[in-house]
Amino acid sequence: MPTRDIMTASPAATQALGRRVGSVLRAGSVIGLTGELGSGKTLLTRGICEGLGVPLRQVNSPTFVLVNEYRGRLPVFHLDVYRLGGTADVVELGITDYFQRAGEGVMVVEWAEKLPGVLPEDRLDVSIERLSARKRRFSFSSAGPRFAELFKELDNA
Ligand SMILES: Nc1ncnc2c1ncn2[C@@H]1O[C@H](COP(=O)(O)OP(=O)(O)OP(=O)(O)O)[C@@H](O)[C@H]1O
Ligand SMILES: [Mg+2]
Repeated sequence: MPTRDIMTASPAATQALGRRVGSVLRAGSVIGLTGELGSGKTLLTRGICEGLGVPLRQVNSPTFVLVNEYRGRLPVFHLDVYRLGGTADVVELGITDYFQRAGEGVMVVEWAEKLPGVLPEDRLDVSIERLSARKRRFSFSSAGPRFAELFKELDNA
């Protein structure tokens, strides 16, 4: 399974990393973000959206609304499932409808570990570790070939 670890030492560096990710994403990409409170999930997502051409002022944490929808060069569905009780909620709240539509766009899910078995297997996982006040480690992994181009991009320092 392809994996890459990338460290950042500032919020700006995390956003720049997100921009690089967003710049190479294709329709049908699903990204699951995992990491403790304040690790940088939303900030990375802001960068990803920027890289996809979404006006940055639109991009905010959807903690209370569950899903934000943006439009860049592709539609972007930004989910934060922190408040979901479990997989049953996903069906009840119509979130599975977004999975259907994710095929035309990009889906980014904060707290993806709360939905085991719900996200498609062909996805990019990013787990974020807080190493210190300003240092973060981003571990990218994906089982399928869909993100090959992204891994190449990450190899270009
Ligand atoms: N290298 C870094 N990368 C990302 N964020 C950093 C970094 N250094 C410091 N920070 C700070 O960490 C916080 C990250 O906040 P962010 O909202 O992105 O986290 P989150 O994982 O989405 O949190 P939540 O679980 O509440 O959704 C910000 O306050 C940011 O300024
Ligand atoms: Mg967040």
